[in-house]
Parts: sequence; structure tokens; C-alpha cells
Amino acid sequence: MTLSRRHFLATSAAGTAVMGLGFGLPSSFAATPGASDMPDWHLGYTSAPAAGFEPSSMRLVYGKVPAGLEGTLYRNGPAHFLYGSDDYASHWFDGDGMVQRIAIADGKAVHSGRFVETVKHRIEQAEQKFSAPGFGTAGDLSFPVTGPDDVNAANTSVTVIDGELYALWEAGSAIAMDAKTLETKGPKAWRGDLAGMPFLAHPKREPDGTVWNLAINGPMVGVYQIGAGGGLNSFGLLDIGKAAYIHDWAMTERHLIIMVQPWINEALRPPVVDGFEWRPEEGFKFLIVDKDDFSNRRWAQGPARAFYHTGAAWEESDGTIRLDAALYKEPVLGVGGGVDEIRGVWKGTDESFTSNLTQIVIPPSGDARLIETGLDGDFPQVDPRRHGLPRRLTALVTGQSASHPGMTAVSVHDWSNGKTESFEFGEGRMVEEFLFVAKPGSEAEEDSWLIGPVLNLKTGTTDICVFDAGHVSDGPVCIWRGDRSWPLGFHGTWS
Ligand SMILES: [Fe+2]
Repeated sequence: MTLSRRHFLATSAAGTAVMGLGFGLPSSFAATPGASDMPDWHLGYTSAPAAGFEPSSMRLVYGKVPAGLEGTLYRNGPAHFLYGSDDYASHWFDGDGMVQRIAIADGKAVHSGRFVETVKHRIEQAEQKFSAPGFGTAGDLSFPVTGPDDVNAANTSVTVIDGELYALWEAGSAIAMDAKTLETKGPKAWRGDLAGMPFLAHPKREPDGTVWNLAINGPMVGVYQIGAGGGLNSFGLLDIGKAAYIHDWAMTERHLIIMVQPWINEALRPPVVDGFEWRPEEGFKFLIVDKDDFSNRRWAQGPARAFYHTGAAWEESDGTIRLDAALYKEPVLGVGGGVDEIRGVWKGTDESFTSNLTQIVIPPSGDARLIETGLDGDFPQVDPRRHGLPRRLTALVTGQSASHPGMTAVSVHDWSNGKTESFEFGEGRMVEEFLFVAKPGSEAEEDSWLIGPVLNLKTGTTDICVFDAGHVSDGPVCIWRGDRSWPLGFHGTWS
């Protein structure tokens, strides 16, 4: 296959432009409860106000705000799921992105939130119905699709590069937003000929601020290198040979690691979810690429696993690469498949939900091996000061409730001694991703705070919780609570 940017863009646009023939809801949805008798956990999957959330001060309801904790937590996630009384989004992943902003200064926290004003959101709000093709949605034939950004849900993550805020999806452009007002500016083209090029939701940042990210389109992978000043240093292309689902990846100081799981989607047409095939016989392949010379690459192989998220990778002096990730024995698309949750349907704990924090060890030659911790969870995070470098700690979200979806605990695993510290919030809490925030003047990983939201079903609020990363089992250092909740999100950034 000839690799070219023109071909890449053309096929990417075609993938989203091909319409299916409608998406009938399975009959089991007939039992969906009405809005008035939704379970309390449905708060996490309930649409946010269309006008967003005006800035509002949160109250400190527990503990003492640590001196030096100053900055802004941005979060992104699907936040619109229902038009009228019964036009639900066909999949959680197709809910429109809303960026939440929690600004922390002088011991106070102020929350605001706004939808990303995408083409999809604008058209659907005007029509008051879901019509754009997407991850779980066939879409209406009338929906105008000229390229990936017409269906960009901008709902997966958020990053800040050189002071500019970007809402991220995985099959379209980064969408620039005002970092203070959250006003949408529009799709970002990192270079004139890269307009509309996908920008993955999991960019990687070197400690010096250089950002690397991927553009996925079937077997072709674009690689962005963006300087700390926000300008594009380079864009290259790799052919990984198959249309594996790549949601995340890994990077050391010297290498990019493209993780090719045997979860294949060759159809690339909406609804995308219908095109996935699990082919465990093909194993889990790793393409290791020299950052300075993309022609210098090698493959390694390990046992078949599915994954969404990595923590980060590092490299030892002999070239051995170690990276941690939340690995599943087989693919899982949310506990309720990403479909039940937004309709308030909960069928109990799914035994297939067995993501395990695992270290993947890739020797200089030969097969990769897995070191499994037995710790079930996802959304692994590391100290950004150590990204790509040897480190000890990985934070992740763990724990499960018997009575509602979502996770209930936050944990920190220490790879140097195999020990894990956890704090279990218990039933009635839905814990989201926690980020490392370095304590001012410190260097060690444990000299960090962990900050993240917890949806509190008892109070009906989203609480912002802070832990000491070195003493998570001691419980939160402080908790802020507003007078409102917002839908569960996926990923965030601290700036
Ligand atoms: Fe993700």
C-alpha cells in the first residue's frame, strides 16, 4: 500500500461518510425505565444542561487544602445522551463532549463546563435528534459528512499545549477551546496539509514539553511531533499492516511503541462498533520505532490481550522496554456495552470485566512477557515528570460496586516492591481518573498529589478529591463539593 497524506485523509473521510442502513434498538431496551424512575447511578449518564455550567464556587467539605496546590483540572467526556423523551444516543461513546474546568487557587475551587461546539453538536441541537454517524450510531442519510470533523464528538480527552486547550476525540482533529471561557475555537490543523487529520485522545508529553501523538486510520499510523511551543516539528507515517483498534500507545525516551492488539476493525464504517473482530490467534504485537529514525524499527509479540490504556513506558540500559497497561483477556466496551448505561439499565457485574494492571516486558530480542499484578482497574496514570523514564508508581481507578456501574476506589501500585495502596470510597461513589500533580519544589514521584472527580450518589454532586500520592490509603487530603453533578468523563489534564 502506498502511504501518502492524501490517501490517508481520503480513506479516513470515506470511513465516516459511508452510511449504514439504520440501527434498530434490541428488544431488551423495551424494559428501559422512564426518566422518573431511573436509578441514582444514572446521574453519571444523564445529559448536562445544553447551556453548560456557569462558573460556580465549590465548598471545601473535608480536610485542608494543601499549600501549593494551584492550577486547573480539565476533564472531558460524553455529556449529551437524550433528545425528547426517548431518542437516546445509540452508544455512550457518541455522547457530545463537554469540557469541565475546575480552577484551583488560594485554596478555592471553581467549576465551569461547556459543550464543545462541534458540527455534530450544532446540527443535532438544531434538529433535536441524534443524526450523525458514529461509534455506535449508523446515522441519518441526510447528515452532511464531508470529512471526519463533521462527526467529531470531541468527547474523549483534553490537553493543553503551549497554553492552548484542545478537546480530543480519536478519529478527527483536536478542537481548540479558550482555556478560561471554554469557548470553542474550532479544529486544529497542525500544518496546512494536515487539516482533518485524526489526532488521538492520548498524546504523550516528554518532560521537556515535546508532545508526540498518533493519527490512526486503519493500518496506517501518522506520527505527530509537536514542540513545547506548540509548533509541529514533524509528521511521519507508519504502516502497521492491519486495522487494529488503537486507542492508546506508549513511549520511552528513545522509542515509540505502537501496540497492535488483535482487535481488528477493517470495515471502518458507522456504526463502528459493529465492525470489531477479536482475533486472539494473532497475538499482541508491538512495533518499536526509533523516534529519530522511523525506518529503524522492530516487532515483538506477546500473548493476546485487549486494552484501552497504558500508564507509560521506560527503557533499561540493555534496551529492555517496560510499560504498564490495563489489559483485558478479551475486549470489553463498558460494563453494559456502552449502550445500557445511558438508558439506566444495570445487569450486574460483568465477569468479563477483568482488566488487570500488567507490566509488559519487551526484551531487546524475543517475545514480550506479562507481569500481572492481580489488580483490576483502568485509567492508569503516572507522574508526568517521569513520562518515558524509569519510575515506580502507577495510579489507577479500581474497585467495583455490586449495585451500580463504575469504579469505587483509587489505587497506587509500586512496581519496585509490588505493593498497592488503595482507598475504597464504597457503594454510592463512582470514581473517575486521578491525575498526578507534582508538589512544588519536589522531585520524587511520591511527592505528588492525586486529583480527580468522584460522583457522589448520596449527595447528587461531583466531588473533587485530592490525595497524597504517597499515602493514598490514608484517604483524601481534601474534598470540594459543588451544588451539582456532571456526567462521568473519560480523561483529563492538569495545567
Ligand atoms: Fe482513553
